[in-house]
Amino acid sequence: MATTTFRGLEVLISRQQIAERVAEMGEQITRDLKGEKLVMVGVLKGAAFFLTDLSRAIDADATFDFVAVKSYPKGSQTSSGAVQVIKDLDEPIEGKNVLIVEDILDTGLTLAYLRKIFLQQHPKSLRIATLLDKPSRRIEKIEADYVGFSVPNLFVIGYGMDFAERYRNLPDICLMPPDQPS
Ligand code: IMP
Ligand code: MG
Repeated sequence: MATTTFRGLEVLISRQQIAERVAEMGEQITRDLKGEKLVMVGVLKGAAFFLTDLSRAIDADATFDFVAVKSYPKGSQTSSGAVQVIKDLDEPIEGKNVLIVEDILDTGLTLAYLRKIFLQQHPKSLRIATLLDKPSRRIEKIEADYVGFSVPNLFVIGYGMDFAERYRNLPDICLMPPDQPS
């Protein structure tokens, strides 16, 4: 079978596959909410594309907040191990149903840290939705409640995900070509 490519990049997960899976995730999250309100917290910048699509697939009274964290040094394909909050929540989440929305659950350092600091605020519930999961890379013991796709240990770009801030606007999830100058 011929490999699908977009702008010369190998497509791992197509825009159609993403749309179908995001719709399914939205239905599942809607069912689990049982009519309650939701605060969706997007992890900038990578999860922005997923959050806007996922939120429109959720049939609930939803509001939005965003955090920005840094766990990768610029231009690196490996985690630095350190998590730094660059932008914190705008509103308190005490007593609220919170859904953290992330692009990739990789080593788990980012989400384990966010979960820890969010739980200190005593939300009513705290769940995690991640578009991609790379279980083989896990350092922290953490699982998402909703996973779009489980992927092998490959560096991916597109649909919000970057390499050195580039490629986020690719409509498909593509494989990062090896030895690409940043
Ligand atoms: P973790 O803290 O190691 O779980 O890292 C999660 C973050 O690393 C994700 O939100 C991404 O921003 C980034 N990341 C991990 N793997 C990839 C990848 O394959 N492509 C782009 N970014 C990635
Ligand atoms: Mg991210």
